[in-house]
Amino acid sequence: MKKLVFATHNPDKLKEINQMMPSGFQLLSLEDIGCGGKIPETADTLEGNARIKAAHVWENYGYDCFADDTGLEVTALQGAPGVYSARYAGPGANASSNMKKLLTELQTHKDRSGRFRTVIALVINGQFHFFQGVAQGDIICEPKGSGGFGYDPIFLPAGFKKTFAELPLEVKNQISHRGIAFKKLSAYLHKMKGQ
Ligand code: IMP
Repeated sequence: MKKLVFATHNPDKLKEINQMMPSGFQLLSLEDIGCGGKIPETADTLEGNARIKAAHVWENYGYDCFADDTGLEVTALQGAPGVYSARYAGPGANASSNMKKLLTELQTHKDRSGRFRTVIALVINGQFHFFQGVAQGDIICEPKGSGGFGYDPIFLPAGFKKTFAELPLEVKNQISHRGIAFKKLSAYLHKMKGQ
């Protein structure tokens, strides 16, 4: 079994990706390898932050590893909040204050389109590979729904009449930025295994 670390402290993400892992890989969490604490995300791009996290594990613990980073990129705001999505409303920001700030910023804009983008950095046998998933949609004017997290209540995915927070999680995972990026990673690992 090839050991592969997923650089996250989020048990939901770990569970989700574990279900998609090809046989022959043993998925380990940061806790499993004794890596406590948060790895500082100091880059100004999603690619940069994903790479920092994967490289941290590779360089300090010697494991092959992958890490993800996600942002909501709003067209009228030139891609903001983007890589700063988690802390858009400033120190102590939470989902509700972040959404409030975004809705205020968008008040005067007609174009409400945006996209969630996830980047996964994989470092395996010393080589880096990147996978991207995008979910296109619109930012609605008021939060709707109680599922999901982050900006889900104000994000209407293209082709749907319900926000990410109103859609069942299985549906969101099928069409989401993260789901798409993880499927690409999983397909790559499958292919690698066969070589
Ligand atoms: P992370 O890189 O997965 O930690 O995501 C960074 C931030 O982007 C989160 O704190 C959320 O604010 C936002 N975000 C990421 N994924 C989603 C999602 O699927 N729905 C809504 N917000 C998300």
